[in-house]
Amino acid sequence: MLGLNFVTLVLLLKAGLALAVPSNHAVHEKRATIHPRWTKAQRVHSRSILPMRIGLAQSNLEYAHLHLLDVSDPDSKNYGKHWTSEEIIQFFHPSNETIETVRNWLVDSGITIDRIVHTDNKAWFAFDATADEAERILHTEYYEYEDSVTGGILPACEEYYVPIHVQKHIDYVTPGIKLLAPPNAPNSKHDLMRRTERKITPHKFYRPKGPIQFPSSSDLSKCDSTITPACVAALYSIPPAASSRKPNPSNVLGIYESEAQYYYQPDLDLFFSNFTPYIKNGTHPTVISIDGGPGPTNNTSEAGGEVELDLQLAYPIVYPQGISIYQEDDAIYELDPNQTYTYGFNHLLDAIDGSYCTKSSYGETGDDPNLDPIYPDPAPGGYKGKTQCGVYKSTNVISFSYGGQEAHVPWAYQKRQCDEYLKLGLRGVSFIFASGDAGVGNYPEPYSFDGPTGCLGPQGTIFNPTWPNNCPWVTNVGATKVYPGKTVFEPESAVFDPAGHPYHVNFSSGGGFSNVYTVPDYQKSAVDTFFAKHNPPYKSYSAIVNNTDLVGTLGSYGGIYNRIGRGIPDVAAVGDNIATYVGGEFGLSGGTSASCPIFASVVNRINEERLAIGKTPVGFLNAVLYKNPWVLNDITNGTNPGCGTDGFSAVQGWDPVTGLGTPNYPKMLALFLSLP
Ligand SMILES: *[C@@H]1O[C@H](CO)[C@@H](O)[C@H](O)[C@H]1NC(C)=O
Ligand SMILES: *[C@@H]1O[C@H](CO)[C@@H](O)[C@H](O)[C@H]1NC(C)=O
Ligand SMILES: *[C@@H]1O[C@H](CO)[C@@H](O)[C@H](O)[C@H]1NC(C)=O
Ligand SMILES: *[C@@H]1O[C@H](CO)[C@@H](O)[C@H](O)[C@H]1NC(C)=O
Ligand SMILES: *[C@@H]1O[C@H](CO)[C@@H](O)[C@H](O)[C@H]1NC(C)=O
Ligand SMILES: *[C@@H]1O[C@H](CO)[C@@H](O)[C@H](O)[C@H]1NC(C)=O
Ligand SMILES: *[C@@H]1O[C@H](CO)[C@@H](O)[C@H](O)[C@H]1NC(C)=O
Ligand SMILES: *[C@@H]1O[C@H](CO)[C@@H](O)[C@H](O)[C@H]1NC(C)=O
Repeated sequence: MLGLNFVTLVLLLKAGLALAVPSNHAVHEKRATIHPRWTKAQRVHSRSILPMRIGLAQSNLEYAHLHLLDVSDPDSKNYGKHWTSEEIIQFFHPSNETIETVRNWLVDSGITIDRIVHTDNKAWFAFDATADEAERILHTEYYEYEDSVTGGILPACEEYYVPIHVQKHIDYVTPGIKLLAPPNAPNSKHDLMRRTERKITPHKFYRPKGPIQFPSSSDLSKCDSTITPACVAALYSIPPAASSRKPNPSNVLGIYESEAQYYYQPDLDLFFSNFTPYIKNGTHPTVISIDGGPGPTNNTSEAGGEVELDLQLAYPIVYPQGISIYQEDDAIYELDPNQTYTYGFNHLLDAIDGSYCTKSSYGETGDDPNLDPIYPDPAPGGYKGKTQCGVYKSTNVISFSYGGQEAHVPWAYQKRQCDEYLKLGLRGVSFIFASGDAGVGNYPEPYSFDGPTGCLGPQGTIFNPTWPNNCPWVTNVGATKVYPGKTVFEPESAVFDPAGHPYHVNFSSGGGFSNVYTVPDYQKSAVDTFFAKHNPPYKSYSAIVNNTDLVGTLGSYGGIYNRIGRGIPDVAAVGDNIATYVGGEFGLSGGTSASCPIFASVVNRINEERLAIGKTPVGFLNAVLYKNPWVLNDITNGTNPGCGTDGFSAVQGWDPVTGLGTPNYPKMLALFLSLP
């Protein structure tokens, strides 16, 4: 009798709980689907302890871009007055109202104040609660979910409720509806079920047939077949850096490297002695190791084509200024041949801004254990420390010849990261990214996850914009080429090399329109003019997608490109037939991987001149460039094929192939020196 009564009572209570969500509460998060890797198992025991985290809504995020423009718009009286990191934390941390409201809700729900921890960066509340308590506060039921891939078990619910007046103050609650692979699951980084990709902008290196005849260091007559430092300097009118002045110690150029890209000093020396005799043998970058990122290699066959291309383009422009390489992730992660575990850049951002490590937004707090490498790395030889947070001061400019496609990167992950580029822009950092090498599309399998065409939608016809280039707060660099028979004193054209001539894949300048970000104000009139004067010959759609199923959603719109998205790229630089030494051998290399460090080096040189007269670094560039397109060489010839089309056309004014054009150093310098 007793037993039966007890059972009945419990069942009634359960039913009562589920029904009795007070009317002043609302669903805060509800899971729509569950990945087949997860199985819902038994109810979490009522006395199990759950580590509760409540992400607080940050204030002022919606106005952040106005503040960035306030310090980077050429017409603003605050141009160049960048913020300190303390000012940024103060500005964005959750408002007192948010903190009070959420704390009062918890206290009223029976979580005494002494149990609640408020984290240092003010972004979340943490407390331990029994499952019973958590269920009562959130009007939900917690179940154990089993992960078939790792064997891990996570507590989660299907939906939860919070008071309506609290909703706008909290970002999300964990444990909640999210099912993330347990961070320490041994197999999590090799989980092939994840549809992830982090692909280096492919480095294309080939050795010309026949005896190698490379131009002497000052010969400009062969720039149509071999781009040397002299060709780059002539194209963009870059004079030798002032030798009378000591390089400013605060203006070292930053270059991001990952994926086992290690430089080999003898290659740099061979390059310097053949092409830039003014650079001393032994000149080398400082490797800033992030989470165990290794230093240079002494092994010829491990010389990294990307890092050496970057250095051999940047040194001739910035020397005697130095270069720092941000080498991200330990050798185990860098070498992961399948690259199934990660997207990248978060660990660099953690290392140069400690507040990013624990920042909550769009439902993500800190790094994503499904996508970012996890430390300490249990693998033999792995980095045994914790993820590095705020240990390095950022350089003024960082060049990134890496990226992927926006459709592959979860919406929340990329939004959170893009906000960080904005915040670091407020601090005066310029982020310069290669725009991609596959025109309006992506490389088909096996280079990508986009099927046989490398493009989106059920038929694989929709253009596939690149990431993180879609973020409005970075500067993207497309690629041009000096075609055979042309000289460096004639206009360049957008690059297109069909597969086999000479690289193994088609190469065209990454460009197009984001599906995740609307066109930013600073770019709007340039994009409007492009559509008005050079309407592309394809059916379009107008949509901004904020779910993570970018691919599925886009298929339903009709049309193959977005009419209202952020345009890519912003600028361009030469990116084909680049003379390089890799592994002791001379060859030619190409990609927007080459264009990016050229443009970044030009910006670094401009910073050097501004610093010399007591001004600040330029920081976020786009607002200035779009208002002053005359400082760039407009590129008006060529296209960026992809997705079975000719892509877009380079035309007069901005275009989604070469942006505003390639640098004219004297004009850019004069403009930036004229700004406050
Ligand atoms: C928020 O609270 C802190 C300390 O509790 C106080 O110093 C600050 O002035 C408050 N800010 C506002 C805008 O009320
Ligand atoms: C610099 O190094 C290169 C490659 O090892 C070598 O060929 C060259 O002679 C060196 N130059 C000087 C001045 O030592
Ligand atoms: C490479 O060689 C240099 C000079 O011999 C040495 O100092 C350095 O430790 C070596 N690095 C590695 C990774 O072996
Ligand atoms: C050099 O690197 C290659 C490729 O990683 C490796 O096979 C070889 O054993 C290495 N050589 C030495 C001497 O470490
Ligand atoms: C890489 O992926 C292939 C299948 O695509 C698999 O056979 C191999 O084991 C994977 N390697 C690692 C190290 O995960
Ligand atoms: C490469 O470009 C050619 C046009 O020259 C095009 O026909 C072909 O489909 C492209 N290949 C891929 C894989 O996009
Ligand atoms: C997400 O997209 C929908 C439909 O386009 C829109 O109504 C909603 O405001 C968007 N939400 C966010 C957070 O951007
Ligand atoms: C225009 O670009 C094409 C390649 O797309 C090139 O063959 C041609 O020479 C260029 N024309 C001019 C005038 O630069």
